[in-house]
Amino acid sequence: MCGIVGYLGRRQALPIIIKGLKRLEYRGYDSAGIALLNGSLDIVKKKGKVIDLENEIGSKPMDATLGMGHTRWATHGEPNDKNAHPHASTDGKLAIIHNGIIENYASLKKELEKSGHKFLSDTDTEVLIHLIEEIKIQNNCNIEEAVRLALNEVVGAYAIVVLSQDEERTLIAARKGSPLVIGIGEDEFFVASDATPIIEYTNNVTYLNDREMAIIKDGSLVVKNLENIVKTPFIQKLELDLEDIEKGGYAHFMLKEIFEQPKSIRDAMRGRLVLREHQLILSGIDQYLNRFINAERMLLIGCGTSWHAGLIGEYLFEDLARIPTEVEYASEFRYRNPVIRDKDIVIAISQSGETADTLAAIELAKSKGSLIFGVCNAVGSSIARTADAGAYLHAGPEIGVASTKAFTSQVTILAMMAMYLGLKKGTIPLSKYQELLNALDSVPDKVSKILSKADEILEISKSFYQATNFLYLGRGYNFPVALEGALKLKEISYIHAEGYPAAEMKHGPIALIDEEMPVVFIATKDSSYEKVISNIQEVKARKGKVIAIVTEGDTEIKGMADFTFEIPNIADPLVPLLAVVPLQLLSYHIAILRGCNVDQPRNLAKSVTVE
Ligand code: AGP
Ligand code: GLU
Repeated sequence: MCGIVGYLGRRQALPIIIKGLKRLEYRGYDSAGIALLNGSLDIVKKKGKVIDLENEIGSKPMDATLGMGHTRWATHGEPNDKNAHPHASTDGKLAIIHNGIIENYASLKKELEKSGHKFLSDTDTEVLIHLIEEIKIQNNCNIEEAVRLALNEVVGAYAIVVLSQDEERTLIAARKGSPLVIGIGEDEFFVASDATPIIEYTNNVTYLNDREMAIIKDGSLVVKNLENIVKTPFIQKLELDLEDIEKGGYAHFMLKEIFEQPKSIRDAMRGRLVLREHQLILSGIDQYLNRFINAERMLLIGCGTSWHAGLIGEYLFEDLARIPTEVEYASEFRYRNPVIRDKDIVIAISQSGETADTLAAIELAKSKGSLIFGVCNAVGSSIARTADAGAYLHAGPEIGVASTKAFTSQVTILAMMAMYLGLKKGTIPLSKYQELLNALDSVPDKVSKILSKADEILEISKSFYQATNFLYLGRGYNFPVALEGALKLKEISYIHAEGYPAAEMKHGPIALIDEEMPVVFIATKDSSYEKVISNIQEVKARKGKVIAIVTEGDTEIKGMADFTFEIPNIADPLVPLLAVVPLQLLSYHIAILRGCNVDQPRNLAKSVTVE
């Protein structure tokens, strides 16, 4: 959570930092703040969005070529002005911005209070800058050494930037558990939580590793670890275009990302699905083919939408490759002493590649000898780097907090993996494999077809945007789609929604149904079609309102449902890739009709780097 930007160079820092914060605002938007250093430290911070910070700054002259900024997702202390970052030391000469949690802040705070430190906020972060100040005084050292020693006393996760009034041209950054990338320009340096604030100035970047610090001073960058050992930074070229991170004419990032899906799904298959030769090329699997073929179990781990993709993965791996598969919430898995064997393969699914729970879960599995396969979007992210092998989504940056295109790309990758392993293990006949390859290749065009009818979903949304509850039901491959549809609605419109396997309705949720209750059925023509029809009848008998996602040409459900939306026919394992799209649109339009901020829904942040 939270976005960090730092700049040291020859240009005015303020506009660079503000623009960078706007790019990072998807990571947190409880408050924003900046610190600029030009002779003295000048701090401005404000509850709310970056725009509120800009208004607070107004036309105040803030002339400096060194500075830092923060957009917060509160963990400790409510979102208000005083808890906003940056936080300063007692003498006001040091300032810090921080992403993460200092877990031992309470005991450190007690000690520091005894030494006379006064705290102005409720945050864990403020404790760290006072600790740095205390160490600096006690050891009579420079800021670099004080930060290093302080971080050795800290338990928790952090990405930080620290400035010191006494060291005019110095910027110190460090990370453990929260991402930090350094941009290296000509006579200038950038520090940020992801590369989006940097891209228009330079594409030379280096990602800090855990327990590493960047010391930018005297026009150069030194990277060292917390044991004071100098490291050679690995400088890489960014492959990111400015237009990838802009809205490109769409009203919201979420809408842009929904409409990008024909392309993002194609990009997930690019270089992997070679239709002419009826081939899949998955080098990440080939590297460990024997382990995959002999795997006793697949463990799919993720959170939120990525966990939903994992549920579809479970159906795919069991159905096509006959590998016993379990799907785990990363946050539960890591704390319940799970049985992990060395013949298990762990597939970590994460858009950001930075989700703290997922990262911790795979570290646990790795320590028990499992092979870790990453399915991530963010290139160079912590999970991607921790994994033994993997397949990137190549979906481009996903900025809308509600995940859309990453989900369909994750499912595309998992489908290719299951098909590939099915072929290699001989659990699907060649003819079925080829049929599935053709079907997969047809997905982008079919998604385009669905998107061309987006107005139909807008019309349906107009009838339901004032509802207070929604139920989403599906069976088989469509059950996780129901969960995902419900999550999307909850996240951005704040309407209570639940997803269930359609047949489970009669075991409880049916009690909720009355004429006020919209029920979304994913009722495509698959093996459970007839059963789902019975479930629709059960809802109609209780006067519920039915919105059904059906297969093109379906006439039977049309006669029963209040609204239907047709999607093209496709093989069962690939239906989720189509069926989820109208549900994404439904949540988008309902949220807009309710006046919600879909790109920055309340209380959420895009990248959850705290446990
Ligand atoms: C989805 O819309 C979410 N906002 C959220 O559930 C997300 O999928 C989850 O936090 C996992 O993120 P990751 O894929 O970046 O690991
Ligand atoms: N724990 C810090 C706070 O609550 C930082 C949170 C963040 O990552 O934004 O202020």
